[in-house]
Parts: sequence; structure tokens; C-alpha cells
Amino acid sequence: MKFFFLSFLLCAMEVNSQSIVTSDGIPSLQEAYREYFTLGVAVSMNHLMSLPESAMIKKHFGSITAENFMKPAMLMKKDGAFNYEWADRIVAFARVNGLKMRGHTLVWHNQTPTWFFTNDAGEPLDSTALYERLEMYMREVMTHFKDAVYCWDVVNEALADEPGELFRKDSPWFRACNEAYIAKAFQIARKINPDVKLFYNDYNLTQPLKREKAWKLLKRLKDEGVPVDGVGMQGHWSMDEISREDIQTSIDLFYSLGLDIQITELDLTVYTTYHGEGARQQAKETREFTPELAEKQAKTYKMIFETFRANKGKISAVTFWGLADNYTWLHNFPVRGRMDYPLLFGRDLSPKPAFWSIVRY
Ligand code: GLA
Repeated sequence: MKFFFLSFLLCAMEVNSQSIVTSDGIPSLQEAYREYFTLGVAVSMNHLMSLPESAMIKKHFGSITAENFMKPAMLMKKDGAFNYEWADRIVAFARVNGLKMRGHTLVWHNQTPTWFFTNDAGEPLDSTALYERLEMYMREVMTHFKDAVYCWDVVNEALADEPGELFRKDSPWFRACNEAYIAKAFQIARKINPDVKLFYNDYNLTQPLKREKAWKLLKRLKDEGVPVDGVGMQGHWSMDEISREDIQTSIDLFYSLGLDIQITELDLTVYTTYHGEGARQQAKETREFTPELAEKQAKTYKMIFETFRANKGKISAVTFWGLADNYTWLHNFPVRGRMDYPLLFGRDLSPKPAFWSIVRY
């Protein structure tokens, strides 16, 4: 605590001139980045039910994403009925507070119930039947949220991690339709809503192999006239592994395709990355979040945001995958029960050195 207070005193004088410092002495992140891009955060019910957390969201962010409540598993019930209760509460929060909303996500192999892909007898749907269901689902959901969201992650994580494979073959979407479902989903989305921005969203897009695959896919879609507006680089990065060069190379590549770029799910684990080789080297034990670790993480966040600012005009939004270290999916992934510290605010909701490292520039 003393450490955080000291960092605050040292930094308070230096925050960039754009930022508005409110009565608690903490500048607003969104104000600090107003001339660069929209800053967003993924929210869940716990955030909206906590007064300090909802106040922080209003103060620091210009956009929100529903962490889970707009996914197929949450919206559609097996009997065909839709349940918008929780998603609508998040939408109402955005509306009342003048925040933009990202729609996340329509087509994904995860968090989509298995019955979505089967008929009443439990047999897998063929591509024709699955496209019919997809169109029904997208029409219902995109119409319901028409006035609420300005963009959709239309397809999430269609690319394979394995070298040599372009597409994720263990996806029920791929099994029924091959890769054709990707273009189809974008075409259906455009037909339903000509105005909403349509994104392809995936992880590890700063890694050479996956970046190359994403480029291939997106180039192919563009060449075929498929209506894709932007690419979401999720940004679940490791503070030890992400580099300025990798971020820059990816931005250059996707920008060269004429795509809008958003960082859609930013968090910075203090452990090794949980994909590929990193996944095999995971420490099982929780690290202590020492002042040294906090400073090291702050340096990485600083580098990341310097890179984002240097790409003003190419990146339209940066969304954090969570508000504070008290609540993050990384407490349970990839090692169950292991604490992580990936966000800008600590478990007590106070700004970490990482926060100060990105508002001071
Ligand atoms: C992926 C998904 C998100 C979320 C995270 C983990 O990145 O796109 O919706 O589930 O995994 O929390």
C-alpha cells in the first residue's frame, strides 16, 4: 500500500496534460487517451453490483464488452427461447453512462452449447441445417442488440495453433462446414445489419505463426469481397514475452489489408504465456506480487501503450479483459486457483504502477 501511495505521489505531477485528475487524485484513463482511441473494459455482473467498481468503469472507460453474457451459451436456451436478462442489464449500464458497447461474440467453438450443432435426435447438423440455425440465431441476437452495440466479434478463434494447419479442425463449425462458415457468418451479419462494424477476433496474433495465418485468412476474405471491417487482436499477453516489434509487425500487416484494428481482450499475465510452448512451462505456484514485479509489469505496459500511441489512427479501441486484479479469469487459467495480477488496478482497486506507466507520457 505504502508502495502504491509513493508511486502515486511521484507520478501525480507528471500525468499528461490531457488527463482530468478528479478529487481522488487519480486521472481518468479515457481522458488521457481521448485523442488516441477508445478505452474499454470487459464487465460482468459483479462489477455492476459493486459501487466502487462501477464508478471506476464510468470514470476510466469509454466502452464496455460483456465478458460472458452475449455469448451463445448465455443467450439461447435449448427450447429455442432467448434469455437477455443479464446482457440487457449490461446494455442498460452502457446506455445510462454514455458508454459504447462491443458485441462479443456470435460464432465460436467455445461457450456455444453442443445441442446448437445437433438435431433433435442428437445427430450433427449438416452445413445447410447449421447455416439455417446460424442465420436464425444471428438475426434474433443482432436485431435485439441493434441499437446497443457498434461492432460485433462475428467469428472468434477460427485459426489453428498447430503449425501446418490453417483452421482449427476440432471446431464443430469446421466439422460441419469446413472454413466456409467464416465467410458465411460475415455475409449473414452484413445482411442483417449494414451499419454495424464486423470483426474477426483471435489470440496470439502477435506471434509470427498465428499472425501469418490471420493475414492469410483476412486477405482471402478481403479478396473475396467478404464484409470484414476489422481485426480484434485479443491481447492475452505475457509480460515476459510480448515485444514492441511483434505488436508493430502485426499492426502493419493488418493495416495493410485496410482493416480497422482493435485490441479486444488485453491483460498481461505475470507468468509465461498459456499457449504453445509457454503452456508446458507453467509454474504451478502463485508468485508474490512484489514491488519489483509490479515495476517490471509497469515497464511492459508502458512499452505496449507507447506502441499503441505510435499507431494513432490505426487502432480504434483498446479493451482490457477485466478491471482489477480482484477478479480475472487468469486466477483459474491455465492453472486452477493460481493468483495472477494482469490488470491496471490491484486487488484493493488502487492503481498499480502499470496504471501510472500508461497515463504518464
Ligand atoms: C477468449 C474469449 C473471451 C474469454 C477469454 C477468456 O479470449 O474470446 O470471451 O472467454 O477467452 O476469458
